[in-house]
This record gives sequence, C-alpha cells and structure tokens, in this order.
Amino acid sequence: MRPLIRTACLRARVRAMATLPTTAAFSSTRAPSPCPSPSRARRLLFAARFLPSAPPPPAGARAFRTSAAAAEAAVEVGGVKIAREDVVKEDDPTNNVPDTIYSKIGLQLHRRDNHPLGILKNTIYDYFDKSFPGQFVKFDDLCPLVSTKQNFDDVLVPADHVSRSYNDTYYVDSQTVLRCHTSAHQAELLREGHRHFLVIGDVYRRDSIDSTHYPVFHQVTVFPRLYLNVFKTRYVMNSIDLSRIQMEGFRVFSPDDWSGSGMDGTAYAATDLKKTLEGLATHLFGAVEMRWVDTYFPFTNPSFELEIYFQGDWLEVLGCGVTEQEILKSNGRTDHVAWAFGLGLERLAMVLFDIPDIRLFWSNDQRFTSQFSKGKLGVKFKPFSKFPPCYKDMSFWINDEFTENNLCEVVRGIAGDLVEEVKLIDNFTNKKGMTSHCYRIAYRSMERSLTDEEINDMQVRATELHYTMIFKCCLDLIGF
Ligand code: DAH
Repeated sequence: MRPLIRTACLRARVRAMATLPTTAAFSSTRAPSPCPSPSRARRLLFAARFLPSAPPPPAGARAFRTSAAAAEAAVEVGGVKIAREDVVKEDDPTNNVPDTIYSKIGLQLHRRDNHPLGILKNTIYDYFDKSFPGQFVKFDDLCPLVSTKQNFDDVLVPADHVSRSYNDTYYVDSQTVLRCHTSAHQAELLREGHRHFLVIGDVYRRDSIDSTHYPVFHQVTVFPRLYLNVFKTRYVMNSIDLSRIQMEGFRVFSPDDWSGSGMDGTAYAATDLKKTLEGLATHLFGAVEMRWVDTYFPFTNPSFELEIYFQGDWLEVLGCGVTEQEILKSNGRTDHVAWAFGLGLERLAMVLFDIPDIRLFWSNDQRFTSQFSKGKLGVKFKPFSKFPPCYKDMSFWINDEFTENNLCEVVRGIAGDLVEEVKLIDNFTNKKGMTSHCYRIAYRSMERSLTDEEINDMQVRATELHYTMIFKCCLDLIGF
C-alpha cells in the first residue's frame, strides 16, 4: 500500500521536523506570513479539512444516511438528501472532503439538456436506444456517496491499490467515499436483476492542477495525455479535478446467446463489445479510423481501450472489457458473461464542441451557456474574452509527508475554480539532503479580471495553510 502519513515511522517524523519550512518566496506584493503558532496551526488544520495522516480505511459497507436536522439545507440526488454536514465532517479525522467538493454535489450537469454534457449524454442514449431498442435501462441520478465496498471491493480493486489512498479519493468517513467511478454501481444493479444498463453520474478524485487544461493548450494533441484513469497503473497527467461526469455501460449474456456462435462466452462478449463501441464512436465522431489497445482494469479481463484518429492525433475514447467472472458470480449471474465500458464525458465533449477549458463546464456565464442547445452535438464553442492569468510562486522545504495532491487541495480549497495551474518550477536538494520545491500558481477567472489584492490574499492563505500541514507532524511528535 502506498505509504499513508500516519503510518510513517518515528524516524520519518524526526526527519520531517528537520525539514520544517524555513523559506517562502512569493512574487506577490505582500510579505509571506510566518509559520503559524501551534494553536493557530491546529485551528487551521481543521479549517483546511485536509488530513493527510488519516489511517487507511477498513473494508466494509456502510449505508449512507442524512440527519433530519441537516436535511433542510441539503441538495437532493436521486431522492437522497445530502447536507453539508453529511459530507464535510470537520471533527472526523477520516474525512477529507472540502467545501469546494461539496458545492459540486447535486449540480448534475449531465441532466441539463442544453448543456454540452447533457447533449453528449443524450446522443449516447440515442445510440443505445436505436441499436438495442428497449434494452438498456438508464440511471443518471444515483447518489454519489457510496461505501468503500461498492467503490472498491465489489469491483475487485486490490487492497493496496493506489486509488484507495486518502491522497486519491475523497473519504466521507473510513467506510464511505464520494464514488471515484460509476463502476461502483455495477454490483448493486446486477443484484437488482438488471442485464443491460447505463449509469451516468458525477465522480470525484483528488488530483493535481495542471496547465494542460487551459485554452492556450487547447489543441486536440494534448487530450490523450489528459485522460485520467485511476484503475490503470497511475494517472498520466493530472488536472483540476472538482468532479467529472462518467458513464458506465454494462451488458450481460446468458449461455443461449453464445451457444450457436462457435465462440466461447468471453470471445462472444468481447466481439459484441468491440462492435458496439465502434458503432458508438462512429455515431459520435463520424467515419474515423479506430484502434484497440490492450490494457488492465481490475474488474475486466481481457481489458481494452478504444482510440480514434481524430484531427491529426490518436484520442483515447473509453476503457472497457469482459467483466471478471467473480463479479458476476457474487451478484447472482453464475454461468453468464458480461461486458462493461467506462467513459469520461468532459474529454469527449471538449473535443466535440471545441471547449478549451474544463472549468467552462461549470460556468453559469451566459456567454457560455447560451451557445449550446438540446440535440445539437458538435456546435463549435466560440471563445469569449479571456482575462490574463496572474502567477504567484510558493517555495518550501519538503518532507516525507509532502504530496502534490495535498498542496493542490489546499490551493483549490482557497481559490476554488480561480486556480488554473499549480506547477513545480524548481526542485533543489542541498548538501544535507534537504529538498526544497518552488511551485508557481496561476490564478485566472474565465469571467472577470482578478484584483491583485484578492490574489495576494488567496496566495497568503494558501501558503499559511500549506505550512500548517507540514507543521502537523511536528505537533504530533511533541504530543501537542
Ligand atoms: N471505472 C474506470 C475508471 O473510472 C472506467 C472503466 C474502464 C469502466 C473499463 C469499465 C471498464 O466498466 O470496463 O477509470
């Protein structure tokens, strides 16, 4: 298992003490704040909702419930009321959900027919309705709060898989997460007896913030690098990741389906899968060149990725495969085979609509929203005025507990969607073996000019909070 901070040994903590931040460089006009005092640090720790040292979660399911008192200010997803207190738990050390993430729950962009993600979803629905009339049941408002069992165990994610770490997943408590993929619903839907289904919903992953999403890099060539898939070995390139919309497709076959085909069940399912998804790619992109690439997912075997040649480059469209027998057997489908696929809607919508920045999907700016209408896939987005970015640098000594995801979480927690990029620009190790990092943070609004004052304020607060995190191991050590 990837080392989690609280499991770090004492030696690491002593080493960490020796690497408390001693320098801070900003390009802002305000002087950097000093390290916060221990008591202030503790308060900030809670405020940050950022707990890198939470213990690893035990396996097991736990039903999600909301308290009656909290229900009032709650958002509702699929009939489940979700209040802030149900998701952001300031006094629970196993919770790492910040307010910025809570604010995305319930928005359900894919359910807006005039939104690019809704238009794309409906186009995919049309394809399945035409190809398999009346067969695929659609679920687009399942609650994003799921148990660790649903999110990981039910789909055979290994106990030591990186996606289970607090660094990668948003934990509501040790046994409940914000789903990091729509595959989390496979098992329950199988148990309910469904054989053909599409699940679409918001998924949540903790990631770094990366410049490749910004308009200046909007050529299609960058897209293959953007694909984020926790279930392969590791992210390729991370991105601002507030939440994404994902679609899962699932189809079950019984022995009658393949008995006359001359193929075994697995070969039959793989053939049907490829035919179905090639048809989907043609439906979305027209007559394009395609190729299949072998890959790995814990829940399928064999596993593939579909790529298309589009606007001069290979673009990864989706991941898929033949479902592991164990999943079918555990959920009442012994002797059956099935295929499954998963795709991220934003990536495809960015290509199809020429949308240069993923943050635009969440924009309520009329200059964005008014450009799209129901049923019109592929209308090209016309960029509206852009405001210049503002860069601020932050440098500090790192210790064993430092992760880039955590830094990004702090910055995002303060600056929200205004942060466009967090980029390592300098990495220095001195003779004593101490390493310092310098990060450049780009702030930019899609809708207005940011004032120097507000950016400096965000930068100072982010720096202060980040130092607090590094300081925490020291507090633990002296038993504060
Ligand atoms: N769950 C995968 C992810 O989030 C996507 C996926 C890939 C789903 C392959 C599938 C599949 O069902 O077969 O990265």
